[in-house]
Formats: sequence, structure tokens, C-alpha cells
Amino acid sequence: MILLTLQIVASLSYLTSASNIRLVNGTAPSEGRVEVYYSGEWGTVCDDFWDVNDAKVVCGQLGFADAVSAVKKAHFGQGSGKIWMDDVDCDGTERTLQLCRFNGWGNENCEHREDAGVVCNDTAPMQIRLVNGSSASEGRVEIFYKNQWGTVCDYKWTFLNSRVVCRQLGYSDAIRSQKFSVGSISQKIWMDYVRCNGTEKGLSQCSFLGWEFHFCHHFQDVGVNCSTEDAILPPSAALRLTGSPFTYAGTIEVFHEGR
Ligand SMILES: *[C@@H]1O[C@H](CO)[C@@H](O)[C@H](O)[C@H]1NC(C)=O
Ligand SMILES: *[C@@H]1O[C@H](CO)[C@@H](O)[C@H](O)[C@H]1NC(C)=O
Ligand SMILES: *[C@@H]1O[C@H](CO)[C@@H](O)[C@H](O)[C@H]1NC(C)=O
Ligand SMILES: *[C@@H]1O[C@H](CO)[C@@H](O)[C@H](O)[C@H]1NC(C)=O
Ligand SMILES: *[C@@H]1O[C@H](CO)[C@@H](O)[C@H](O)[C@H]1NC(C)=O
Repeated sequence: MILLTLQIVASLSYLTSASNIRLVNGTAPSEGRVEVYYSGEWGTVCDDFWDVNDAKVVCGQLGFADAVSAVKKAHFGQGSGKIWMDDVDCDGTERTLQLCRFNGWGNENCEHREDAGVVCNDTAPMQIRLVNGSSASEGRVEIFYKNQWGTVCDYKWTFLNSRVVCRQLGYSDAIRSQKFSVGSISQKIWMDYVRCNGTEKGLSQCSFLGWEFHFCHHFQDVGVNCSTEDAILPPSAALRLTGSPFTYAGTIEVFHEGR
């Protein structure tokens, strides 16, 4: 009974946070013409000054980790009705497109052949960070979803989960999961009942109950301590072996900063 009540509360909060932005007429849910809901009506966004920082905000708002591109000239077909936003100028960190600078609702000099669109990256894992440890390699686990940092519940948390967190951040392994300070009550608890098998590239690729779906309080926020041993490479770097016919031997090459 208690579980059922909690479940209904969780579902309601999910419904009331329903998005006022959508992608229309793409070939996948991660792309399309951008439409925003305002004053009871869906309308489009004009492509004047439309760029990847604007796309990042849209993609983030819809729950994707990153944008691949911002597209112009009604690439995903022309919308109809209102053109709600023009001269949109996001710096990329805004929580929603509506919080970016723009000309004001419906104040535009455009036509639907200028409708803006985005392509989001649906394979990139959500960013994570460790907060409030005494060094960068330890702290409370936070994950960036819908353009805001939230926490992760420790219910059924395993060492494999900690390992995925540490490796996603570029550390060689986890030492242990442990308590750090808890998140503020204004922070979302984004994930609960996380189960990784250790091969995932990021925490968001592990199985869990669903975004913002949880039965937790902030005192259950999980933290990890990562091993800095052999962590000689920055998190963004990748390795490969070359110059040998074998997969287990060769010259070690490091890919970093595009080279
Ligand atoms: C969908 O996009 C295609 C072009 O990619 C366009 O020809 C078609 O009219 C669009 N349909 C709608 C409903 O927007
Ligand atoms: C999507 O993100 C992944 C992981 O960050 C990256 O490897 C891949 O190149 C990105 N895809 C595109 C099309 O940008
Ligand atoms: C981290 O801890 C410091 C005190 O050590 C506190 O002032 C700060 O609010 C904490 N930050 C977060 C994000 O929890
Ligand atoms: C681990 O989980 C991923 C993602 O769910 C899955 O694709 C993969 O097959 C799993 N690997 C193993 C060894 O179970
Ligand atoms: C994290 O692990 C390191 C290495 O074992 C240890 O020195 C450090 O005290 C640990 N951090 C905490 C908060 O326990």
C-alpha cells in the first residue's frame, strides 16, 4: 500500500514535469524540428542565429547527453501555425530553451521554411561528477540529466556500479562506495536501484528504475572513492594498439584533444 502510494506520487511528479518542447518529424526520437508549447499552442523556432549551443540546450532538456548538430532551413519539414521563437541565443548552459535570450514570444520576422531543428546524440552517456570529497577522485555521485545535476540512491548499490562510475570518470577502478555529504533537498534524485554489469561506458547505460523514479531520500545519496593508481590518462583520452597483426600487442597510441 505504501509502495503503491509512493508510486503514484512519483508518476504524478513525472507527469507534471512533462516537457513543453518536442522534436517533430525526425527519423528517430533524438532528432527533428523543434517545437515549443506556449499560450496553449505548439509553434516552431526560427533558424536565425541557430547554432549548436542552442541545440545542446534542447537536447539536454529532452534528456539526451549531447547535441550532434543544429539544423536550419526546415531540414525536418516545415511546421505550421505560430513561429514562437526567433533570434535564439543560448550559451549552452541554460536549463531550457525558454530561458535563453530570444526576441520574445511570437516576435519574429521568419517563415516556416526557416524552421530550426536538432540532432541529439542518443548514445552518449549522461555526464557524472563526484562532489564534496576531499579530492577529485572521491565524493557524492551526481549525474547530469535534463540540464541539471541530481543525485543517485544507494539502494542495492554494488561495487560494479562504483566501478562504472570511476571508469567513466577516467579512473582505473573503484576502491569502495561510501557516504559523503548528501545533496540539497532542491536537487532531484535522478536514479534508484541501479544495476551495472561493469561493462557499461557510463552510469546512465546501467539498468535502473527510470529517470526521477525512486523511493529514496537524500540521506541515501551514494558516494564513491576511486583509485588514482595507473590513472595516467585524462578521462577524455582513448587508447589503441597499432602496427601489429595481433589484438593483444602493438604500439600504444593515445588519442587526446583530437590527435
Ligand atoms: C517531414 O520532413 C520531410 C523532409 O525531411 C518533409 O518532406 C515532410 O513534409 C515533413 N513532414 C511533416 C509532417 O513535417
Ligand atoms: C555520441 O557520443 C559518443 C560518446 O560520447 C561519441 O563517441 C560519439 O561520437 C557521438 N556521436 C556523434 C554522432 O557525435
Ligand atoms: C560541499 O561541502 C562544503 C563544505 O565542505 C559545503 O559548503 C558545500 O555546500 C558542499 N557542496 C555541495 C554541492 O554539497
Ligand atoms: C551488460 O549490460 C549491457 C547494457 O544493458 C548489455 O548490453 C551487455 O550485454 C551486458 N553484458 C554482460 C556481460 O552481461
Ligand atoms: C579514499 O581512498 C583513499 C585510498 O585508499 C584513502 O586514502 C582516502 O582516505 C579515502 N577517502 C575517504 C573519504 O575515506
